Amino acid sequence: MIYIDNAATSHPKPESVYKRMDFVLRNASANPGRSGHRMAIEANRVIFESRESVARLFNIRHPERIIFTCNATAALNLALKGLLQPGDHCVTSDMEHNSMVRPLKFLSQQGVNVHRVQASREGSLDPDEISSAITCETRLIAVTHASNVIGTITPIADIIKTAHNKEVPVLIDAAQTAGSVPIDVEALDVDMLACPGHKGLFGPQGTGFLYLSPKINLNPTVFGGTGSRSDLDRMPDFLPDRYEAGTLNTPGIAGLGAGAEFISSEGIDIVRAHEKHMLSRLTGGLSGIPGVKIYGTKDLERRAAVVSFIIEGLDPAVIGDRLDTDFGIGVRVGIHCAPDAHKVIGSYPKGTVRMSPGYFTTSEDIDRAIWAVEAIASGRENHHYIPVSSPRPAFPRG
Ligand code: ALA
Repeated sequence: MIYIDNAATSHPKPESVYKRMDFVLRNASANPGRSGHRMAIEANRVIFESRESVARLFNIRHPERIIFTCNATAALNLALKGLLQPGDHCVTSDMEHNSMVRPLKFLSQQGVNVHRVQASREGSLDPDEISSAITCETRLIAVTHASNVIGTITPIADIIKTAHNKEVPVLIDAAQTAGSVPIDVEALDVDMLACPGHKGLFGPQGTGFLYLSPKINLNPTVFGGTGSRSDLDRMPDFLPDRYEAGTLNTPGIAGLGAGAEFISSEGIDIVRAHEKHMLSRLTGGLSGIPGVKIYGTKDLERRAAVVSFIIEGLDPAVIGDRLDTDFGIGVRVGIHCAPDAHKVIGSYPKGTVRMSPGYFTTSEDIDRAIWAVEAIASGRENHHYIPVSSPRPAFPRG
């Protein structure tokens, strides 16, 4: 299949990710940080090295301040629930994914005041508007780095500067940018960064992390064994243990580490340049098709590799189904767990068709996708491209 759904989960992964996970699962998947035998020590080393690899990619000075989680949602939940108390004020935007919206809604029911700054029709957030929304009760600014619906990149450097002028920390949801758009944590003075492992970082699903700057102290939100200070009935004070209760996903974190190393060795600027090239080819091709409407900014410098569009008069769900069934092309349709962002751009409730190229997407993939959309928009059947009809592999049963 032609896979253009990397904003949901990247596919394929670099070969080194498959190999590292296979190796670790066979040879080093004892319990990290608990037992003292050689395989447990090896598992601990795997976790340590992955933390270092992630730290290098994001220029994080203190790797122990990277808290491994099971996805970006868990990272955002830890950041929001660990920091905000009833009576606190939190500034966010109306471009957020439900991974931000839902924990904030829960917290607002507990007495946290949530203020949503409106984005422009292109999904842009104005740092001045965010700054004006800050009150003396504001405890946090929580925004996405890029919309998962239209890819618009938030000017986080300016937002962090204005927030820090008022001594307010900023939580960045980097679900759509981690591994694809350079993020220098130390240079930007990032307070909290929530990342999934399974998208731009090329790790497997079930991985992610939250970075916490030394200025941030959260209450733990999950309690349990850490293998350290087991004599205490409370969580240890030191990081990462304070926030990493329970056995970690060692093979998954190994894959995440290999993914981060792959990006560092390719160069994140090269990754970004390739994705921008795919973005430009895709938006250029789609915009020439009668009936196709593309959402979001035309300025590709301000856009992550996400393109949302509709074909006038056709339900996005039908388009997605035809792309898959008739053309062998995988995309995501609907409202992408971000209903408010669709309200901002005017595509609610049906949503859009979303294509999200990745580092392994080729020009030919993009050309075939454009060709398929053109065929659907003009009502033609697929006469030329026959999807490979290999039988589904049997699902292994345990
Ligand atoms: N958050 C992911 C997406 O936007 C799953 O597709």
